[in-house]
Amino acid sequence: MLLSGGAVLGGGGAIGCSDPSAGSSGSASPRCVAPEGVSSSPESISETVALLNALPRPVTLPCFLSALDRPLAIHATRSVISAQPAAGERSPRIFLFLGKNILSVVPDGEGAHLLEFGEQLEGHRSVKAELAFPIVDELTEASPFEHLMFDESVTTCGLCHSAERRDPAYPQPGAFVSQALRPRVSDQISVARLEDELRRCEPRDEPDRCAFLEALLGWGDVVDTYFPEDMDTIFGD
Ligand code: HEC
Repeated sequence: MLLSGGAVLGGGGAIGCSDPSAGSSGSASPRCVAPEGVSSSPESISETVALLNALPRPVTLPCFLSALDRPLAIHATRSVISAQPAAGERSPRIFLFLGKNILSVVPDGEGAHLLEFGEQLEGHRSVKAELAFPIVDELTEASPFEHLMFDESVTTCGLCHSAERRDPAYPQPGAFVSQALRPRVSDQISVARLEDELRRCEPRDEPDRCAFLEALLGWGDVVDTYFPEDMDTIFGD
């Protein structure tokens, strides 16, 4: 049982333990489950806020990962040039594809407490946002945009994601739309490789990393997917 028992079981009715027979891996780890009426496949920043607000406090990143519907499509990359660099090949940056809502997480390293967002719009542009875990307080629609500003006019994201603009559809302070970027396919780390990392993970040595991998891969199907080929990389190819 790698997920924190307090977070998973202490939800005051907001969650329940999953059926241990669910999922192809046969793992019996309890997981966070969203209550009826709240989407477990949040397709926008706003729906992600709703899901996070429905999970038991404090919401940990493993709790959130375990709550997402399966099958779950991901693209893991060894890329290290970003707000959330991979912490080596064994702890790659992992993008979660929930419709037009592309999220990113990393099992270890400096960005391991962060959830990065890119809500995809036309023309490979996306609204950027970020939340830090664990989440204790109730989130508002403004929370994901609160810590993005680099100075008065540019976000930290805009330093790499170009052509940053405001969009009237996202009136929250700090909400900007900018160029979407994809990793190089040659930097991909497969789901099979990640499953191998989970099998080899030793909770006594790396409790947080193991809990993350277990929450992501420990139940249901997780499958490799790809960014659109015509999205730019930071290298301009
Ligand atoms: C140092 C450069 C850099 C900064 C700063 C940066 N990114 Fe990125 N971002 C990248 C690169 C490069 C990629 C392509 C994937 C990869 O290589 O990890 C990317 C891809 C993404 C993607 C995938 C698709 C998309 O919509 O662009 C998201 C989401 C994302 N970044 C969110 C953010 C957010 C949110 C911030 C600010 C908090 C941010 N990034 C800041 C370099 C950066």
